Amino acid sequence: MIQNKRMMSLGAFFQPTGHHVTSWRHPQAQADAGTNFAHYAEICRTAERGRFDLIFLADNYAMREASPEALSRAAQFVCNFEPLTLLSAIAAVTERIGLVATASTSYNEPFHIARKYASLDHLSGGRAGWNIVTSALEYEAYNFSRDRHYDHEDRYERAREFTRVVQGLWDSWDDDALVRDRESGLFFDTDKVHKLDHRGKYYSVRGPLNISRPPQGHPVLVQAGASATGRGFAAEFGEVIFSTHLTLPEAQEFYTDVKGRARALGRNPEHIKVLPGLMVMVAPTEAEAKEKLDYLQSLIHPKVALEILSFTLGGADLSGYDLDGPLPELPMDPGGSQSSFATTVNLAREHKLTIRQLAYRMAASRQRVLITGSPAQIVDHMEHWFTNDAADGFNILPPYLPGCLDDFVELVIPELQRRGLFRTEYTGRTLREHLGLPRTKSRYA
Ligand SMILES: Cc1cc2nc3c(=O)[nH]c(=O)nc-3n(C[C@H](O)[C@H](O)[C@H](O)COP(=O)(O)O)c2cc1C
Repeated sequence: MIQNKRMMSLGAFFQPTGHHVTSWRHPQAQADAGTNFAHYAEICRTAERGRFDLIFLADNYAMREASPEALSRAAQFVCNFEPLTLLSAIAAVTERIGLVATASTSYNEPFHIARKYASLDHLSGGRAGWNIVTSALEYEAYNFSRDRHYDHEDRYERAREFTRVVQGLWDSWDDDALVRDRESGLFFDTDKVHKLDHRGKYYSVRGPLNISRPPQGHPVLVQAGASATGRGFAAEFGEVIFSTHLTLPEAQEFYTDVKGRARALGRNPEHIKVLPGLMVMVAPTEAEAKEKLDYLQSLIHPKVALEILSFTLGGADLSGYDLDGPLPELPMDPGGSQSSFATTVNLAREHKLTIRQLAYRMAASRQRVLITGSPAQIVDHMEHWFTNDAADGFNILPPYLPGCLDDFVELVIPELQRRGLFRTEYTGRTLREHLGLPRTKSRYA
């Protein structure tokens, strides 16, 4: 009997010019990528040629804040397309790849989100996914008539109710509600359209949604909670979960914990795909790959590196410390990302890094694993995590675009395929089919 071998799921996580902080300065990057549709069309088609499961776009609702000196050198998080709008256009120039856009539960209404993602799912023939975030930057609040951001627990409590409302709205229309019978003149069956009538702590939403049931039932729910509360949310709702752990034991702990939490809630752990972030610098030989990374690192301005480090530490003030000395004991900001703080401090302690070394490391990849090497070395790493309960696949972060994505598709994908770890052709049409997830049943079915 032929056994179906477990295959990796792969996401392509795009920042406009790439994930490396100096990516926009690289001669093989597209410096004006933020609002260059032709660039996005090209990289999305390249990812589709590589048979990636999905494209993923992150989002914040504010321009990042930093000193003018650091900010003026940054291409990331400053000015670029709104992801859902962009992916709606990308849907028209791609055929198979999944399209995952980020939207926040703190600064949207559930009705808007349900309607927009249902629209993207219809536009793309069942390829939409929603990365659910609660927003973590204090100053995102200032763009939404508030002087303070919601605190961490409050954000997640709102997010749970918000997401349940969105799911309820997606079930508004039964699959066979639209009759469109020209003969009798009956357009739809009113008994098959449902009002939600939700009245909760934060939201009152009557429904029904004014768009029919999405092709996937529900678009795929994506999440990246890392704190205990965030993991609880991921276990309840997440179907794709992004993680950021830097070591195999940490990644294994997360993988086992989140799947265990999901099982305890009655979910099938196989219907949750944990994809750690992986920044890859690949070249035919390890020496060439290292040379490519060294070149990018040489373009980093020290001020930029320090501010990125300070950001990952929740805004810690590092002025006044010797850059070539160890990271001092710092207080953790209770409102910021706790996991981000812990991962950064652990990295410094484990590798005995000076503040300067830690800052350049953070500037290169933030809190993602960065591997530099030949195709075989990259795939060895991926296979090791994949076969040791740390990952169901990876969220790939190209350091600069389009160059590093081209390299990944030309060098790494064939090696994954040769080892039988990744598909050679799409076998499904929808994002759920690529991921091996069932179509969501309606609560009224
Ligand atoms: C790959 C990845 C992408 C993320 N994208 C966003 C994003 O686009 N917008 C955002 O506000 N937060 C984003 N986050 C932050 C997460 O939503 C989450 O807040 C973070 O992982 C910390 O976990 P916690 O909320 O449980 O403390 C992302 C995290 C990861 C790992």
